[in-house]
Amino acid sequence: MEIATYCEPRVHQELLQELRQQGIDESIGRVEDMDSDQLRAVRIIFGWRIPQTVIDACPSLEWIQGAGAGVDWLMPVRLPPGVAITRIVDQFGPDMGEFALMAALNWVKDWPRIYRQQVDHEWSPYLVGQLKVLRVGVLGAGSIGAHIAQMFRPLVAEVRALGRREPTIPGVLGFAADAWPQFYDNLDCLVMVLPHTPETIHMVGAEQLALMRRGAYLINVGRGAVLDEAALSAAVESGQLSGAALDVLEHEPLPPESPLWELPGVTISPHVSGPSRRAGMAEIFAENLARFRRGEALLGLVDRGRGY
Ligand code: GLV
Repeated sequence: MEIATYCEPRVHQELLQELRQQGIDESIGRVEDMDSDQLRAVRIIFGWRIPQTVIDACPSLEWIQGAGAGVDWLMPVRLPPGVAITRIVDQFGPDMGEFALMAALNWVKDWPRIYRQQVDHEWSPYLVGQLKVLRVGVLGAGSIGAHIAQMFRPLVAEVRALGRREPTIPGVLGFAADAWPQFYDNLDCLVMVLPHTPETIHMVGAEQLALMRRGAYLINVGRGAVLDEAALSAAVESGQLSGAALDVLEHEPLPPESPLWELPGVTISPHVSGPSRRAGMAEIFAENLARFRRGEALLGLVDRGRGY
């Protein structure tokens, strides 16, 4: 067997079913059900958080299809230089955009207050805010960031996007990485979609948060390590930020004793904004498999030096 998955039995079965529907009828094993001889023949692995032991057991490995958008889990893994890594691209924008919009609406309308008041049977009208007046900044301008920026565009006053190079997204103000002070200047709401790479660690810290409008809001749906959580806590405590929606954290799962759980205005969700839907994963894997067989360029090929 040349192809194997590294995933839970249920995900393996569901993926196989989807792949069969896409016309892939090759036999595909599960790494954890294979013996060392079988693993030696594996050329392709589909999976997520594949440990070093598995990589070392597969000397014929040529290609890893990551099961998600991010491949930061490969950072600590030693991998022979010729192994291609691909990630799932162009799948997560709609889900993550909805999630970011939900968080922004919850913030401006103060949904937690509505919820609390109902629990208390309390009728206390208050002035709700508006998306329409906000300046929203999307940090990360790949396919997910561009999609999110476009979902916000018709609903808010201004959308900015910051990428390595100046992004060109219709109707969105683009900023190149070194123009970050202008990007953050007076921002009402920051949506973080950056991958975790050696370059992006703690890219959003005290200096960046201080440039935003006082009482601004932060939404992180990218990677936890990009946000300096100590700086975020300090900004929330001082009122510089009115709160944050954190779907990703530097250490996942967030330990029960973390003070972030209790920080007023901060909502924690368990890394759910961009679900790896089986059909989408199978579609990309099937397409890449066909390309691999034909020796063509793979979709979502990761630049190993860059880390995404
Ligand atoms: C999930 O966070 C992913 O990288 O797809």
